[in-house]
Amino acid sequence: MIGYVSRAFFSTLAGSRTLQQLASRYGMRRPYSFARRFIAGETIEEAVAAARAIEANGMMQTLDLLGESVATMAEADAATRTYLGMFERIVAAGIGRNVSLKLTQLGLTIDRATCVDNLRRILDAASAHDFFVRVDMENSEYTQVTLDIFETVWQQGYRNAGIVLQAYLRRSAADVARMNTIGARVRLVKGAYQEPKTVAFQRKAEVDASFEELMQLLLTHGTSPAIATHDPDMVAATRRFASTKSISPEAYEFQMLYGIRRDLQRSLRDAGHRVRVYVPFGREWFPYFMRRLGERPANITFVINGLLREQRTRAAAI
Ligand code: FDA
Repeated sequence: MIGYVSRAFFSTLAGSRTLQQLASRYGMRRPYSFARRFIAGETIEEAVAAARAIEANGMMQTLDLLGESVATMAEADAATRTYLGMFERIVAAGIGRNVSLKLTQLGLTIDRATCVDNLRRILDAASAHDFFVRVDMENSEYTQVTLDIFETVWQQGYRNAGIVLQAYLRRSAADVARMNTIGARVRLVKGAYQEPKTVAFQRKAEVDASFEELMQLLLTHGTSPAIATHDPDMVAATRRFASTKSISPEAYEFQMLYGIRRDLQRSLRDAGHRVRVYVPFGREWFPYFMRRLGERPANITFVINGLLREQRTRAAAI
């Protein structure tokens, strides 16, 4: 079971309003700042600074404005406008033009047509400034509709967009085949949500086997695939497969999350691989942060140690 219990636990905590309010008050602000390990900051300026540092280290980045499952049209519109403003800021900063977004942030749970309109507004601006837009994949309730919307805009000619597919979903082999057929760019991930066994593999060995199978399909038949994992075994399997099939490191990229396995990011870069770091930022960081804790319960020790250290410093000062 890949962290099934902890994932369920953290997913329950993620629903707590009180915890969210407390964490949001302290998590990014000094002196606590415990969320900063995984989140670049709350403002676009902080995200741009993090992106610059990544590029100065010979890697690429994709910026993600945190936020999901907005409750009103006004919030969906605000997120859309923030993306449009982000484009201007990114162009002015002269950093790589690549962003990631979630459809529930653009209003998917409220009104599908408005969500598609919002996505088109973003893709139009993205085309005008040569941006690539990756549509993240959320929980399985939204898999089909996310793929449907993606194909809708794809068939309308928006080719500056790509999608994410999750290896833990039993359906993903068929989805990878479909995306390979239309020539869409796929980011392959293991999958971050708590899902029932009817739709998702539960054991790590099964998820890893699926990841390897899909990675091979993407490397042989896909378009510029992104292999997004911090798992050294999956990374090694990808490198081995590419080398056996004489697939150039230019034909694909590795992707990892901000603040996770920086050592592995650097060693892949040093070995001549293309590495892109996913840089999340924004005020709505709590659900993202809780998913990262759920993936690796050891992270909670990191958070608690940070809080205890601060308590001790304060006590000593009194
Ligand atoms: P696995 O969970 O097996 O971890 C392997 C190793 O990586 C661990 O042993 C540990 O060393 C390290 N590690 C993993 N997670 C860590 C953490 N939180 N803290 C510290 N170390 C950690 N998911 C999704 O459902 N939809 C999406 O759109 C995306 N998008 C996305 C983009 C990018 C660029 C990445 C890298 C990942 C995603 N994900 C995602 C998340 C993904 O589904 C998955 O939950 C995480 O990547 C963790 O899985 P790993 O492949 O790293 O393997």
